[in-house]
Amino acid sequence: MDRHYIHFETPDLAKLANDTAPPAGPEEVLIKVDHAGINRADLLQRLGLYPPPEDASPIPGLEVAGQVVAVGGRCTALKLGDRVCALTHGGGYASHAIAREDHCLALPDSLSTEQGAALPEALLTVWYNVMERGQLSAGETVLIYGGSSGIGSIGIQMAAALGANVISTAGSVARCDAVRALGASFVANHREGSLTEQITEAGYGGKIDVILDIAGGDLMQANLDLAALDGRIVCIGVMRGMQSEINLATLFMKRLTLTGSTLRRLDTAERARCFTAIRDRIWPQVIAGNIQPIVDTAYSLADVLEAHEHMRLGTHLGKLVLDCRMG
Ligand SMILES: NC(=O)c1ccc[n+]([C@@H]2O[C@H](COP(=O)([O-])OP(=O)(O)OC[C@H]3O[C@@H](n4cnc5c(N)ncnc54)[C@H](OP(=O)(O)O)[C@@H]3O)[C@@H](O)[C@H]2O)c1
Repeated sequence: MDRHYIHFETPDLAKLANDTAPPAGPEEVLIKVDHAGINRADLLQRLGLYPPPEDASPIPGLEVAGQVVAVGGRCTALKLGDRVCALTHGGGYASHAIAREDHCLALPDSLSTEQGAALPEALLTVWYNVMERGQLSAGETVLIYGGSSGIGSIGIQMAAALGANVISTAGSVARCDAVRALGASFVANHREGSLTEQITEAGYGGKIDVILDIAGGDLMQANLDLAALDGRIVCIGVMRGMQSEINLATLFMKRLTLTGSTLRRLDTAERARCFTAIRDRIWPQVIAGNIQPIVDTAYSLADVLEAHEHMRLGTHLGKLVLDCRMG
């Protein structure tokens, strides 16, 4: 089976290349990709700043949606022709991509592949970091930074669907409005004064049980200050910087947990275990329409550099995806 895929000859030169699609291993499926999700990690990989793990495909692309066209010998749940979205170990910016069967979710008819491609990475990142590392429970308050982001837009809906009170941040009045519409009960504007002051004035100072921080840098002390006793702070990104100066006394006086993770380093079995939980707890809410993927723009695969520039500028709301179909 012929495959076309994106090869970055240099960070500023993307070429469509061709080869033969790889065979599915015993526990894998080959997916004919209709759409692939774009993630910030892809931009870093293109710039040579985030090399893929050694066992991953060198082709960028961490999530896809399309149709199963080959099934490995030990697969039991999927069959040829099934519509799925899936987390890939790289290789998503292509006409065909490999995914483990247990890293796939069966797409309901109500979701397009454009919408499906916006889900796997965000669902898994939020599930693992907010529900597992952060141990969010129904009735607790969670602060999800960057509510307008691919991660944040799904995270707000997931946490709200599980019964948490969600507050968030965004970078303009219009974006704050959009994030509130996703289910956040309060949204602070990080471009208008102190986040700590805004969140405290709204009555949440010292009352936030879980914080999903995508920004780091100067926000870390704010996180410690805003967290409730026994609060859990999960850092997954450093958009405001890798270094933070914090008052360690806040950590022990409030018995806080400060943790983090990166999905690319999460092993296969852990990912599969999370997908089982997502299938059980979250997917029914997606099927019911209570959690909806937000797709800002779909670019054709050949326009990948334009799509990356859109993400770099940060003017999108929700996800950007690539249309990987030819012709
Ligand atoms: N560790 C992991 O496993 C993992 C997995 C996925 C993603 N991530 C990280 O999570 C972050 C979000 O990823 P994404 O794919 O959802 O990206 P994205 O869609 O491009 O969203 C970026 C978000 O950052 C917000 N933002 C930009 N500058 C900010 C600032 N100075 N202070 C606060 N917020 C700011 C933007 O909000 P406004 O424009 O409204 O301000 C936007 O919501 C990235 O840092 C990414 O690397 C980590």
